[in-house]
Amino acid sequence: MTRQLRTRLRSLGVCCLVALMSGSAAAADTATVNATVTIRADQPGAVINPNIYGQFAEHLGAGIYEGIWVGEKSPIPNTNGYRNDVVAALKALHVPVVRWPGGCFADEYHWRDGIGPREKRPVKVNTHWGGVAETNEFGTHEFMMFAELIGTKVYISGNVGSGSPQEMADWMEYMTSGTVSTLANERRKNGRDKPWEVHYFGIGNETWGCGGNMTPEYYANLFRQFATYVKAPRGHRPTIVASGGHDEGTKWVEVLTTNVQRDMDAISHHYYTTPSGVWAKKGNSLGFGENEWISTLKRTMLIDEYISKNEAILEKNDPQNKVAFYVDEWGTWYDPEPGREPGFLWQQNSLRDALVAAINFNIFHRHAKRVQMANIAQMVNVLQAMILTEGPKMALTPTYHAFQMYVPFQGATFLPTEVQTPNYSLGSDTVPAVSVTAARDTAGKLQVALVNLDPRREAVVTADVTGAPVKGASGRVLTANAMDAHNTVEAPEAVKPTAFSARRSGGKLVLRLPPKSVAVVALD
Ligand code: AHR
Repeated sequence: MTRQLRTRLRSLGVCCLVALMSGSAAAADTATVNATVTIRADQPGAVINPNIYGQFAEHLGAGIYEGIWVGEKSPIPNTNGYRNDVVAALKALHVPVVRWPGGCFADEYHWRDGIGPREKRPVKVNTHWGGVAETNEFGTHEFMMFAELIGTKVYISGNVGSGSPQEMADWMEYMTSGTVSTLANERRKNGRDKPWEVHYFGIGNETWGCGGNMTPEYYANLFRQFATYVKAPRGHRPTIVASGGHDEGTKWVEVLTTNVQRDMDAISHHYYTTPSGVWAKKGNSLGFGENEWISTLKRTMLIDEYISKNEAILEKNDPQNKVAFYVDEWGTWYDPEPGREPGFLWQQNSLRDALVAAINFNIFHRHAKRVQMANIAQMVNVLQAMILTEGPKMALTPTYHAFQMYVPFQGATFLPTEVQTPNYSLGSDTVPAVSVTAARDTAGKLQVALVNLDPRREAVVTADVTGAPVKGASGRVLTANAMDAHNTVEAPEAVKPTAFSARRSGGKLVLRLPPKSVAVVALD
């Protein structure tokens, strides 16, 4: 209220009433976001596949070399060549599945380059990512042993773009055969007697682009051919994934589900979030204004609509739900950091990225029936990474913390929620201020995750649970003073979760979420 207006009102004798009114109105409009949520604990939905919390590690920048693999002779503390700090951090994350070796790299990767004595492996050029030398030091054995070390399932991306069905078939035999075939014996000679389990196998990556620049119709035929030769011993057939579309596209799902009648267990889809939506000038990872905060959150939410559109086609063409939808690349993608090789896709990771992650999890949960896997791009040192390393040091990113806070949702049963929330707006951008998801975890506890997208206002969320008595809630919250607060190897704990709890008041649970925060609580 302006001073002139206050003077004029005082002269009219309505000062106190107006002052009180303006105070409470201001509190409602600017100080707090008031939202309500009803959690339907009596209407359980689909099981949230743990693979929604999957990871992706490509031969790209410092994603594998330096980030995971430093070699046995490295001064960086390691076990058989794998960095101890990164392995311990990934174990704590309960990584359910890792996709490897690409990405675009997969369609140029020839598996024979990465087996046998390391010093004899051919050195190739990583043409996609920086044109640097690829030593092939990290190959099939190194990846499989890494997966065993962190306790995760494996998702191998096969080479369709520049490979052959024979090469793919041989790789599968090499990895999975328990016979005395020449390939199985070669694996034994290279140090691995027991066949490995290949849980998921992708027939190419982004075959519309870096994976061969194909039309969906052409790829559908190739899929039929290549998938025929992805063989494994009885009872060990991997889940076979077709390379699908991206962003708002639905054509790949339409064509694949009408042209492929067998072998296709899932179709992959990719969506990257940029602040601007303009690939040539995406926006920065740090030092952004509130306009880019809201535009990033708004753009990440588009995935909800993109999944729904593809789901509608799957419901039509695959009503029995035999073909899953895998978002096997997702996350933020910013402009290259000054001073870094642009082809290495290294970017900082801030509180904004943690909110992006949580918003995506909440969306994936809602689509849990069809979305059976999601793999964030990427695990270490690339794009929206969990971990950033510099020499012997490491920092866990805000995204890492979001993943860890959501661990109780792995394998939990989705519970529908009805959320009434005001919007958070800036300029022409508007998003719901609060995002909520709920589930019953594998131990029977109710878990609720909440995101307050508003960077200025606290959100007071009043929650009602139908079908379960609730006394209170406790868990953790992730927030910080700045929108771009982040961790570095010098200050690795600038952003980290802290304790959070909520009590019952007036028969309902009241959760007070700080501005720009993610909270995950268990109800008791
Ligand atoms: O994750 C980086 C790249 O993004 C992947 O290699 C490719 O599949 C996608 O275009």
